[in-house]
Amino acid sequence: MPELPRRLRLAPSLLSADFAALGEAVERAERGGADAFHLDVMDGHFVPNISFGPALVRAVRGRTRKPLDIHLMIEKPAQYLGAFADAGGSTLVFHLEAQGDPAALIRQAHDLGTQVGAALKPETDWDRVTPWLDRLDQVLVMSVHPGFSGQSFLPVALPKLRLAREAIDRLGRPTDISIDGGVNPETAESAARHGATFFVCGNSVFAGGDAAENLRRLRSAVERGAGHEVR
Ligand code: DX5
Ligand code: ZN
Repeated sequence: MPELPRRLRLAPSLLSADFAALGEAVERAERGGADAFHLDVMDGHFVPNISFGPALVRAVRGRTRKPLDIHLMIEKPAQYLGAFADAGGSTLVFHLEAQGDPAALIRQAHDLGTQVGAALKPETDWDRVTPWLDRLDQVLVMSVHPGFSGQSFLPVALPKLRLAREAIDRLGRPTDISIDGGVNPETAESAARHGATFFVCGNSVFAGGDAAENLRRLRSAVERGAGHEVR
């Protein structure tokens, strides 16, 4: 049977946008071809930075119907899944290094009616996620140390993407493989070659130039990469 073409999606990360004009940034990126938005929630404990909470997610929900990908860089995800689901989050992504039983977090998010993802820091081995893979809608491979936008892509993410691709293909599920951190046209292309399907882009969309033009460049890079997948 011929393989169906994979859905490749670009998710601008709002951490790099102008918070004083967030609604306009969301609408412009959506018109420019964003498939989803990525929102980085940081609690000052799990990572050394504090960003925003459910109120901001709710405000963004009011400006777009695209999926909202909520990246929870917080110590106690179980306490907040309900609030982020209520606020309009579409996929709730917890960290495997945070507190809580992954099986319980996955069940909790699904019971709330959202999709669920598990994220791995650059130093966390791929094996940590395999027991939960058959229940996840997304795995998020971090290519920077979480906490800040604008860092450089760490190549240690590439073999992990490859392992993710192989394991997910074996399961035959449509699980998204998300790559987050330092994604620009060059690194996006190589992430796509290694099997990523969901591309979180902060500074490469919002930190310079026109967001729509930046998204067009990213789109052609990921399509090029996916066409030359590493086997
Ligand atoms: C980092 C965040 C990323 C970040 C991406 O902790 O998880 O989503 O905002 O920004 P760039 O693409 O600039 O690395
Ligand atoms: Zn993120």
